[in-house]
Amino acid sequence: MFKSWEELENSIKDCKKCKLCEGRQNIVFGVGNKDAKIIFIGEGPGADEDRLGEPFVGKAGKLMNFAFQTLGINRQEVYIGNVVKCRPPKNRDPQEDEVNACIDYLRNQVMLIKPQVIVLLGRIALQNILGQEYKISEARGKWIEKKGIYYMPTWHPAALLRDEKKKIDFIKDLQKVLSFNFK
Ligand code: URA
Ligand code: SF4
Repeated sequence: MFKSWEELENSIKDCKKCKLCEGRQNIVFGVGNKDAKIIFIGEGPGADEDRLGEPFVGKAGKLMNFAFQTLGINRQEVYIGNVVKCRPPKNRDPQEDEVNACIDYLRNQVMLIKPQVIVLLGRIALQNILGQEYKISEARGKWIEKKGIYYMPTWHPAALLRDEKKKIDFIKDLQKVLSFNFK
């Protein structure tokens, strides 16, 4: 684990630790406030993210931004990252070897930020961070505390595009996050 952002960011440059390096245009490291109280974690870059090098800037990201605006969450105030930092081909799920190769970067980001709350966006983030035994449909909307960090699993923003009911759940889950008793 690196103790500074500079060392961490240098360590990921030209990363070839897994096969996702082969098809990528950009490593999508993460964006936002390095002192954030809240981190949002998605799955991995899609086509727009790969092209622009920033997480959640495509269709799902626009919907997430809209929810943020509605709730008064500022993208600059929070931190946004992903489980894997290079785009899986055709947006397939990241595979176990890819997650294993990449997840230490995310762990290091969390270690440096020291958030109070982590929002897990969808099944891939939930299962790879808290454990494969969790089901997103059961875990979403409920706080899970581990080692002093409070986790809020919710739907992945892309799922909201297909299901209106999930939009309401998503807003409710983020309202819970906003009413967290931050120190
Ligand atoms: N979906 C994700 O999981 N992450 C992104 O950054 C964009 C879409
Ligand atoms: Fe490296 Fe992660 Fe990209 Fe794989 S996905 S090449 S581990 S940065």
